[in-house]
Amino acid sequence: MTEQALTDKVVASFDTAKDDRFRELIQALVRHAHAFVRETRLTDGEWSAAIDFLTAAGHITSETRQEFVLLSDVLGISMLTVAVNEPGLGEADEATQSTVLGPFFVQDSPEIELGGDIAGGAGGEPSWVSGRVTDTAGKPVAGARIEVWEADDDGMYDVQYDHGTLAGRAHLYTDAEGRYRFWALTPTPYPIPHDGPVGRLLQYAGRSPMRAPHLHFKVTAPGFHPLITHIFVADDPYLDSDSVFGVKDSLIRPFTRHDAGTPTPDGREPEGSWTSASFDIALKKE
Ligand code: BEZ
Ligand code: FE
Repeated sequence: MTEQALTDKVVASFDTAKDDRFRELIQALVRHAHAFVRETRLTDGEWSAAIDFLTAAGHITSETRQEFVLLSDVLGISMLTVAVNEPGLGEADEATQSTVLGPFFVQDSPEIELGGDIAGGAGGEPSWVSGRVTDTAGKPVAGARIEVWEADDDGMYDVQYDHGTLAGRAHLYTDAEGRYRFWALTPTPYPIPHDGPVGRLLQYAGRSPMRAPHLHFKVTAPGFHPLITHIFVADDPYLDSDSVFGVKDSLIRPFTRHDAGTPTPDGREPEGSWTSASFDIALKKE
């Protein structure tokens, strides 16, 4: 059998699949995977090394560690999936852009009031974050649920510690004018978990595991597409080399630093300096 005839035979073996979308996906996967093997003239040893790599990724994966998400992220597949699902032309042009979810989202974060603090004991420089949620025509979205999460100033998410306490994450709701505000921590750069197979892959390739500093948002409201995004800190050196390719220019915001003693918007008196950032969010109608 020629190489192409083998590919055609494997593709045809899925013709019996009843679900059209499943058939489309699996047949395309076979075509592309076979093309990869033919193009690279893959050796037995290389394929066996790839299987060892995937096995190691499976072994390190647990409730709190998702190596396959990391693999998808560092190969740019997560961001490409975001791109092909991004709202299309027209109204959606005005919608806030999406980026990767990452592995550290937690379903039930603590609720805070408007103006509350997401830190919950996580260390870092306080940051006042505020903005407005609207539709793409600028009409306020009241009662939108905003979930936010971020790493502490040691570059660690709460779920990476053994203490079992949620910190550096919360959710809140927009007011009648679609406005929101809360205290967070000024985001700092941190490495994605790199003590496993994906870390070894990056190291072998001479790539850095560092992410550009960011604050995660998930925004949901009835009648609107859910938005999963971040804001990135302007002027950071890692903006051009984010390890998961998540940076989009439209999501970069200045985090303006204020000296210790500068009055804050809510009269809080932080011990040292603090920053402020604003982020208006436009949701696309469903
Ligand atoms: C994150 O931003 O939390 C993240 C994204 C991708 C991989 C690892 C971490
Ligand atoms: Fe993150």
